Amino acid sequence: MSITGIKGMNDILPEEIATWQFLEETARKIFATYGCQEIRVPVVEKTELFCRSIGETTDIVEKEMYTFNDKSDHSLTLRPEGTAPVMRSFIQHKLYNLDQVSKLYYMGPMFRYERPQKGRYRQFHQIGAEIIGIDDPRMDAQVLAMLSHYFEAVGLDDVSLQINSLGCPECRPAYRQTLIDFLQERMDQLCPDCQRRCSSNPLRVLDCKSKSCKEATVDAPSVLDHLCPSCDEHFATVQQRLNQLGTSYTINNRMVRGLDYYTKTTFEMVTNNLGAQNAVAAGGRYDGLVEELGGPALPGIGFAMGVERLVLLLQDKKIETPPPALFLATLGEEAELFAFKILNQLQREGIYAEMDFSGKSLKAQLRRADKLNCRYTIMIGENELATGSAQLKHMVDGEQQTIQLDGLLDGLRALLDDSAATSL
Ligand code: HAM
Repeated sequence: MSITGIKGMNDILPEEIATWQFLEETARKIFATYGCQEIRVPVVEKTELFCRSIGETTDIVEKEMYTFNDKSDHSLTLRPEGTAPVMRSFIQHKLYNLDQVSKLYYMGPMFRYERPQKGRYRQFHQIGAEIIGIDDPRMDAQVLAMLSHYFEAVGLDDVSLQINSLGCPECRPAYRQTLIDFLQERMDQLCPDCQRRCSSNPLRVLDCKSKSCKEATVDAPSVLDHLCPSCDEHFATVQQRLNQLGTSYTINNRMVRGLDYYTKTTFEMVTNNLGAQNAVAAGGRYDGLVEELGGPALPGIGFAMGVERLVLLLQDKKIETPPPALFLATLGEEAELFAFKILNQLQREGIYAEMDFSGKSLKAQLRRADKLNCRYTIMIGENELATGSAQLKHMVDGEQQTIQLDGLLDGLRALLDDSAATSL
């Protein structure tokens, strides 16, 4: 029996790769205009890193991590997210000495042992950004503007931005207690998970999908009514700046995130087109994280987008790998020798061209050109070599034109505009 891949871990096949590359290239371009530089960190880290940053009582750490002991008995974990590894690297390499603000972005696979379904996988990919060193709310607005800019640029307009504030170590404990008091009075209406969460992670109860928990918490106290003056002002400025930029958003005071490191602003980009997995991007501020992980007391804010979910949303947009600009069909040995050289020269110039290497008949070569959706085909045989000219056929409209073999490269170059050229 042949070996298959692992449940929840997908191959990304050539037929869908154009969309992936489009999403990645657009991120690189846009993030660069906001001053972000790429950072690449390993996919495996010490388990302790995630326990300390994401939080011991979160679903991710409690249930979803791929954790194993290596041959030296060290506990390692496949990264379930990118923020903690990026902070670890930031601290380890003292990137804070290079500049007062570090703007970093990353892309790559993450791993969570979740129950796979549409839009939720065990290996999935994130494109994320982290800005460390500035606690000014204008930076929150910039990050959200960059995220909105990205969604516009990739053509996803059916998503909406939701924002909230989770307060800070000054105001959160009092809110947490108020919420616990509220929940304790409704304990019997909560699901077993939430009954447990009441003491360990009460904010998560607001996020529970179970009907009875939703009903029990309709009138739960809002975190926004319990912010200290400084968090309140911060959140007001974020909104003011988003309004100034015309970035639309809604406030969702029940949005709590599945990771414990957040402070103040949190946000999600949500869609109605993905069923239960409605978040396509999410993030927030984490002003205590760098210090918590042993670094200096520097604030941070960031987000990560789920690439599989973006790809699902872009399914109808048909982003395709460009087809060959030219197919060189040949008849006879001399024509083949001539065409082989031209093929190589075109490719070196960044023009995608193809020819046959399997001895197919002329007719079969033309069929192949058709299958590959080539823009042009040129037929070269003994006759063409003798007369020094050949027929160049435009495959879409069938129009033919005579082209001189002497200077063929220049002639082709002039014909093939930039859109047909793929630079390798
Ligand atoms: P997160 O909300 O856990 O946040 O994940 C961010 C995004 O990754 C989600 O909105 C979703 O699109 C995608 N995602 C998460 N889990 C899966 C899955 N199992 N399958 C497919 N896609 C998934 C974080 O990871 C934070 N590190 C974000 C952040 C960066 N906060 C600050 N900086």
